[in-house]
Amino acid sequence: MAIITVHDKTFEPYISAAAIDGQIKKLAAQINTDYAGKKPLLIPILNGSFMFASDLFKAITIEAEICFIKLASYKGTKSTGNVITSIGLDEPLEGRHVIVVEDIVDTGKTLAEFLPQLANQQPASLKIAALLHKPEALAHPLTIDYLGFNVPNKFLLGYGLDYDGLGRNIPEIYTLQE
Ligand code: IMP
Ligand code: MG
Repeated sequence: MAIITVHDKTFEPYISAAAIDGQIKKLAAQINTDYAGKKPLLIPILNGSFMFASDLFKAITIEAEICFIKLASYKGTKSTGNVITSIGLDEPLEGRHVIVVEDIVDTGKTLAEFLPQLANQQPASLKIAALLHKPEALAHPLTIDYLGFNVPNKFLLGYGLDYDGLGRNIPEIYTLQE
């Protein structure tokens, strides 16, 4: 791993592929224990979480299902500000054990707005799995049940995370050079 340039910025290595893999195996082992016999439904949020979700799902060995969604935000017709809605959630959640899968929880705004909509559908349980979390940036209280790494409040790239569309295919995680 070395310094890389994406668009106009330079990034340096931060988390190796081996370290990511090791953490994901631990999270999967925990999920295998906690959800044995419960057939959990993983709901990864596109685009960023596709790589984490794929590696996590491969390491889950109990019966489990997965349904990818995309979040779209639009201005509400009333003065409610932005409304976040999901596209592609074609599974009924009632009675299901749901695990929302995120690449990174930054301010927590996305999940704080979206989780109540899932909770409305009365799942049997609702938990969060996130590869990365920036505790310093968290502005909306959230509990991350399955967390890979706490990271400083700096811009990250790679392993699904993009900078203006590029960098998602990098197998490691890089950080913006100061
Ligand atoms: P939140 O609503 O502020 O928690 O934002 C979460 C979303 O912002 C993530 O799912 C990412 O798509 C994006 N994001 C947050 N931090 C970074 C970063 O460091 N690099 C790339 N994308 C990020
Ligand atoms: Mg995301």
